[in-house]
Amino acid sequence: MTAVRRFDEKARRGFGKLGHTTIHEGELFRHPVYTRFLHWTSAILFFLALLSGLAIYSPWLFHWLTPLFGGGPTTRVLHPWFGLFFVIIYAFQFFNWLSLMRWTAADSKWIRRLKIYIGGKERLEPEYVGFFNGGQKLQFWEIIGGGLVLFITGFLMWFPEIFGRIAVAISYVLHDISALIMLFGIWIHIYLSTVGEPGTLEAMTRGTVTRGWAWTHHPAWYSEATGRDPRADHQRAVDQQKKEKEREDRDSDLIAESR
Ligand code: HEM
Repeated sequence: MTAVRRFDEKARRGFGKLGHTTIHEGELFRHPVYTRFLHWTSAILFFLALLSGLAIYSPWLFHWLTPLFGGGPTTRVLHPWFGLFFVIIYAFQFFNWLSLMRWTAADSKWIRRLKIYIGGKERLEPEYVGFFNGGQKLQFWEIIGGGLVLFITGFLMWFPEIFGRIAVAISYVLHDISALIMLFGIWIHIYLSTVGEPGTLEAMTRGTVTRGWAWTHHPAWYSEATGRDPRADHQRAVDQQKKEKEREDRDSDLIAESR
């Protein structure tokens, strides 16, 4: 494990020299260049595997995708390679995120209040939510488990002459189920990372988030990163906003009166 950690730290340092992260005032550092590189490389490979996979899965529905990969036969040849490279890149992400993705009692607590989260009634996440919430961790582990199933079954299907008819037939079913579960999860992930929770995308593009985003979605991490109380800072920002609004209203009343 220490060898993995050493490699991970070396990779972070190496990638840190290739790119940089600018942290503006009022922002916090969230993801280093190395993490961003792994995330976007695996995302591209995931979609290449997905699109080529859909074209093979149902040519009747998705035959229009095959020209993207140079036609039907080349789509079949390329698909396992996209999948294999996705698994390799994701293995690095696995070690990179392993310590942050460990399941804790706080995550089980978060999962129990999933209904409230989906309902979107409470804007602020509970104070125990750290760097990743229970939902994000669940998705990470689903990708690891699902990726493993896709990798093993894909390998069996790649070399049917070695593994035999029954193993390959079972692999087809498991491969498709796992891909469909992942596909469903990834749309939720994309929605939440963009329009669902504005300010999240910057975490993976620029590597930073605003303090407001941090105390709203990951209060325990905010307090760890800044040594400050997330609720108190949130309240201060709300009061400040209220005061500014009152001042603006007063100014516009004065302008109206003077006319
Ligand atoms: C266009 C597509 C995608 C967008 C816009 C996107 C965006 C993001 C963002 C902004 C984060 C950081 C969240 C945070 O710091 O709290 C993130 C994290 C993550 N992404 Fe993506 N992502 C995309 C595709 C993918 C794909 C294809 C995968 C894997 C197959 C993936 C797996 C993850 C995982 C496991 C995390 C960490 C946990 C989480 O935030 O859910 N993403 N992504």
